Amino acid sequence: MGAWIMEETIESKLEEYELINPPEDFVKQANINDPEVYKRAEDNPEKFWEELAEHIDWFEKWKRVLGWEPPHAKWFVGGKLNASYNCIDRHINKRGEKTAILWEGEKGDIRKYTYNELLEATSRFANALKNQGVEKGDIVTIYMPMIPEAVIAMLACARIGAPHSVVFAGFSADALADRINNAESKYVITTDGYYRRGKILEHKNKTDEGISKAETVEKVIVVNHLDNEIEIKPGRDVWWHEIIESADSTCEPEKMDSEDMLFLMYTSGTTGSPKGIVHTTGGYMVGTHVTANWVFDLKEDDIYWCSADVGWITGHSYIVYGPLSNGSTIFMYEGAPDYPDKDRFWEMIEKHKITIFYTAPTAVRAFMKWGSEWPEKHDLSSLRLLGTVGEPINPDPWWWYYKNIGYEKCPIVDTWWQTETGMILITPLPGITPMKPGSPTNPFPGIKASVLDDEGNKIEPGHGGYLAIERPWPSMIRTVYGDEERFINTYWSKWGPDKYMTEDAARLDNDNYFWILGRVDDVINVAGHRLGTMELESALESHPDVVEAAVEGIKDEIKGEAVFGYVILSSGSKEDEKLKQELRDKIVKDIGPIAKPKGIVFTDDLPKTRSGKIMRRILKAITNNKDEGDTSTLQNPEIVDELKRKVKELD
Ligand code: WT7
Repeated sequence: MGAWIMEETIESKLEEYELINPPEDFVKQANINDPEVYKRAEDNPEKFWEELAEHIDWFEKWKRVLGWEPPHAKWFVGGKLNASYNCIDRHINKRGEKTAILWEGEKGDIRKYTYNELLEATSRFANALKNQGVEKGDIVTIYMPMIPEAVIAMLACARIGAPHSVVFAGFSADALADRINNAESKYVITTDGYYRRGKILEHKNKTDEGISKAETVEKVIVVNHLDNEIEIKPGRDVWWHEIIESADSTCEPEKMDSEDMLFLMYTSGTTGSPKGIVHTTGGYMVGTHVTANWVFDLKEDDIYWCSADVGWITGHSYIVYGPLSNGSTIFMYEGAPDYPDKDRFWEMIEKHKITIFYTAPTAVRAFMKWGSEWPEKHDLSSLRLLGTVGEPINPDPWWWYYKNIGYEKCPIVDTWWQTETGMILITPLPGITPMKPGSPTNPFPGIKASVLDDEGNKIEPGHGGYLAIERPWPSMIRTVYGDEERFINTYWSKWGPDKYMTEDAARLDNDNYFWILGRVDDVINVAGHRLGTMELESALESHPDVVEAAVEGIKDEIKGEAVFGYVILSSGSKEDEKLKQELRDKIVKDIGPIAKPKGIVFTDDLPKTRSGKIMRRILKAITNNKDEGDTSTLQNPEIVDELKRKVKELD
């Protein structure tokens, strides 16, 4: 295990004894405020989940709660249900006229869908998809910005049993092509464009470029969001508004098996191309429904805002499936947090009387840097609960968030989970758990999380180890799409097939609170987005002047981590700013703007073992100006100081 895992941050050590009780007024009204729930879940986890599954509507009840043949889990075996039915139809009698989606565009335009309207829009589009040839089981790629049609498209796919694969709109054309190819997707849903900081992004052009590198695509459905001139390829491209016109407004939801795939979500890992994480229907719906209700304490009159993008798992579980299955009003915003000014979020919270706000630590750090004068311009007293997700939040921004946004009356739920876990696994329950700034606190009831060493032994509190999940949970990953071997190797081979390897390092404190120390694989967490070093390196290496490249994460005040590149050039190439710019552009083009390197260093060599393997641990230490530890196994130990000097010169 790398020495750095053992390292304890001074910050967390200092803060770990600080317990902040949830505000009393909050506790009284909380959906869950009896700690007995943890014991009940622990006594009989299967029974616990079975009772919770009753909160979902089933066309046919399951025959068995869990089939567990490690590492293969089947939940609610034999049950039949539909995710879109659970998110829409079942609310119609009780809350048909309630707002389901409240959307604000960057320019300030507002759109609303009641549950009745959402049912009609989803049903029409579901029929339109069928008319375009989409069948149950076909994977539909959704490449859309934050507009209501993105949610409608997801729900329509779920309605007809076509798994969706949503690709983050900020990702590049190449990233889109990779994902379409891996899923062999025949259908793509996109838009003409969208706004970012007042500028129009030509999204359809990027979609076309991606599709030009993908062989399987037959039909492209385009939402007219901006009314701008775009090229339509006859025979392939159709307009959303045209195909829904002739489509029927009612659509019987498909009776899906509990274990039918609901969606694919690609994410980065240690090696090679992104992995398609497969989530199925029954367990996923139970897991996201219950966690949304308990962790966010959802009530009938809440206006709930998760500021993530629908292109990430957070958007799937906690914009769409969790909150809508609870009948909530979800708020969505199209644009940037600092447009037209740095109080845009606070202005919207005040205007729409948002009650629950869930965001990323990187956003909180940016808000804190912009200053408390921005939230001070607004009345944020409608808020009653705050949340964070994606990376550890340091105590400073935690306190800033708690005081300036939550007025010290809102609990903060720091939620730990992953694309693979589907639902929140480590989190406070806001009506029960005393908070500690920087710690996601305890496993959700029924979840068995532990900190293990290489051999699978429990590690004592105070020391770092690997974060493992030792018992199946309903919304867990079922496989890596088309790559069962990778599924097993990545997650279930470190300690055998019954213990899930999270690829995170963690440590417990004396109160048994979890502290997340970061990833142990070659993944860089940039502002809560997972980027694989391999993909970044291939992007650099595909530049004709580059012989070899290595990429590491460097600490960043706002983003947590940023990308830092080391590049070996072919002889004769000129080490100048122009080339650096080309390399930056290459990464932005191949991966997306979030991956833009913070620094690039040209070098003749990299720290390598005698067998020629780059020593990541040492490169990481060089990048972050830390002690590199033992360098005796390097074939070229002198490179360490040389690179350290070069990194320093860039500062
Ligand atoms: C990785 C998963 C699932 C939500 C968005 C990210 C890190 C996530 C926390 C947290 C510390 C966190 C972990 C994890 N992470 N939440 N509350 N505290 N770290 O999903 O892209 O699949 O990334 O994000 O390193 O493994 P993802």
